[in-house]
Amino acid sequence: MAWKLLKLALCLCWLLAETQADSAKDKKAKEVDDNWWRHEVFYQIYPRSFKDSNGDGIGDLKGITSKLPYFVETGITAIWLSPIYSSPMVDFGYDISDYRDIYPDYGTLDDFDELIATANQLGIKVILDFVPNHSSDKHEWFKKSAARVSGYEDFYVWEDGTEENGERKPPNNWVSVFSGSAWQWHEERKQFYLRQFTKGQPDLNYRNPAVLQAMDAVLTYWLKRGVSGFRIDAVNYVFEDKQLRDEPLSGATSDPNSVDYLNHIYTRNQEENYGLIQHWRKLLDDYSEKYGGPARIMMTEGYAELPQVMEFYEDENGVQGANFPFNFDFITELNSESTAQDFVFTIQRWLIYMPPGHSANWVMGNHDNPRVASRYGAKSVDAMNMLLMTLPGIGITYNGEELGMEDYRDISFEDTVDQPACEAGKDNYKWISRDPERTPMQWSDEKNAGFSTADSTWLPVHPNYQELNLANQQLAPSSHYKVYQSLIKLRSSKVLKDGTYTAQALNRRVFALKRELRGQPSLLTVINVSNRTQQVDVSDFIDLPNRLTLLVVGVNSQYRVGERLKPDEIRLTPYEGLVIQLKPSK
Ligand code: GLC
Repeated sequence: MAWKLLKLALCLCWLLAETQADSAKDKKAKEVDDNWWRHEVFYQIYPRSFKDSNGDGIGDLKGITSKLPYFVETGITAIWLSPIYSSPMVDFGYDISDYRDIYPDYGTLDDFDELIATANQLGIKVILDFVPNHSSDKHEWFKKSAARVSGYEDFYVWEDGTEENGERKPPNNWVSVFSGSAWQWHEERKQFYLRQFTKGQPDLNYRNPAVLQAMDAVLTYWLKRGVSGFRIDAVNYVFEDKQLRDEPLSGATSDPNSVDYLNHIYTRNQEENYGLIQHWRKLLDDYSEKYGGPARIMMTEGYAELPQVMEFYEDENGVQGANFPFNFDFITELNSESTAQDFVFTIQRWLIYMPPGHSANWVMGNHDNPRVASRYGAKSVDAMNMLLMTLPGIGITYNGEELGMEDYRDISFEDTVDQPACEAGKDNYKWISRDPERTPMQWSDEKNAGFSTADSTWLPVHPNYQELNLANQQLAPSSHYKVYQSLIKLRSSKVLKDGTYTAQALNRRVFALKRELRGQPSLLTVINVSNRTQQVDVSDFIDLPNRLTLLVVGVNSQYRVGERLKPDEIRLTPYEGLVIQLKPSK
C-alpha cells in the first residue's frame, strides 16, 4: 500500500514537473523578438531575374534557394521577394490569379517550403510581396464577380457609367497609372470595372467585408508557411472616393490619357487606407504573439507626400500601422544633380517627420526605377552604399546593386515586355520601360551571366556582364561587392545600431554624417556628390581631437583601409565616399 502511494506521489510529481516544463517551453516559444528588423538590411529579389535553375530562361524558386548561401557570404539576413504567385504575368506577378499558389514557371508550393526551410537553417528571414489593391482579371473572384455569382457581385468596383449617343462613357475622369481611363468596359457584365493599373488588374472593393476577410485569410496562409512578414504593394491606391468625384486637372500636361493630367485627390491617399494597414498590423501582431518567434512585420509601398507617408507608421492617436513605410527619397527627391545640402536636408526631413520610437529606412533602388549606377552615375555606387549602410535604421538593397549593376536602356522595342512601355509604342517606350532595371542578375562571365543555361532569357542580359559580374568582383582585390560586404559587417557595430546621427554639408559638394555612442568609437561618413576633386576639413564637425582611421574606401580610392587621415586634409575624388573611425586621441 505504502509503495503504491509512493508510486502515485512520484507519478504526480513527474506530471507536475512535466507540465511546468511544458508551460516554460510554451512561454519560451511564445516570446516575440520585437526588434529584429529595426537595423536590418532587406535585400529585394526580383524572382524572374535572379537565378534560373531549370534552363527555361526565367528565374525560379529553386534558383533562389540555390543562392541562399550567397546571402550568408554577403551578410544579408532578410530577403523580400517580388510576387511569386500564380499570375498571367501581364504586370510580371503584380497581377495575381491565385493568392495561394506559386506561378508554375517559378516552381511549386513544395519548392517554396524548401526555400523557407533552407533560409531558416541559414538564419535568413523571408518577406513576401502582398498585392492587395488589385487581382488579375483571371482570378476566380473576378470571373465570378463578372458573372454576378452570388457572394462575389461586389468583390470589385463596378459602375454603370453613362450613355451618350448610344455610347457608354466611364463614370468619371479617373486615369490609370499606366495611361488611359481607369475604367474598363466589361462586355459580359455590361458595366465598367475600376483598374488603376493595367486592364488585367481590376481593383478589389475593400468596402465589401468579404474581400477583407478573404485577404486576411491569404496573409494567415503565408504566415503559416513561415514567412516573417509582407511588403504591401501600392497601398495608397486601395480606397477611392465613394462619390466617384472627378479629379481636378493638375495643369502639368494637356494629355488627358496621362497619369499626370489629374491631381489624384480622390483615388490616392484616402483616409481609409490607414485603417486597413492598422487592421493588418494587428493581424500580424496577434499572430506573432500567438506563435512566438520574430515579430511578423509589414513594410508598405506608397509614393506620396511625406506627411501622408508618415501616417502609415502610426496615426495621430498612436494606433500602429506599418512597421515602416518605404522611404523613397533617394529615388524621388535626390539625383546626380543634388548638392550636399540637398542630401543633408532630405535625410533630415525624414528623421524630423518620423514619429518618435520608430525606425527610419532608406530604399536605394527597386524594380520600378532606374538603378543607382544609372541614376547617380557608376562612380557613385560605393558612396551611395556607404550612405545607405551608415544611416540610422533599415537599409533596402535591390538585387544587383551590391555589384553596381547598370540599367540596360538599349533593349529593343521587340524585346521589351514591360506592359506600360509596350503600350507607349515604339517611339516612347524607352524611358518609360522598367525592363532596363529588371535584366538578369550578373553572377559570372559564363553564358547569360551565369543566370541561365537557356538560349534566350526572358529579358536580355546586360552586355556589360563580361566585366561586371559577381565572380569577377569576388576575385578582384577591391570591388563594389567587397565594399558592400565590408559595410554590412560594419553594421553589427554598436555605434551603427544605436548611435546618434548628425549630418552637415561641409560645402555644397561634400557632406559628412557622424554616428556617436558613449563608450564606442564614432563613425564618420564623408561623401563628395560632385564631379570635382574636393579637399575638406572636418575638424569643426568632429570637435574633439580625434584619430581618424579609414574603415571603408571605394573601388577607385587613392586611400587604403587602415590608413590614418588628418582631419583638415581629406581629399575626395569625384563622387568618392569614405567611412572613417574616430577615436579620441590621448
Ligand atoms: C507597385 C509595383 C509595380 C507594379 C504596381 C502595380 O508599384 O512595385 O511593379 O506595377 O505596384 O501592382
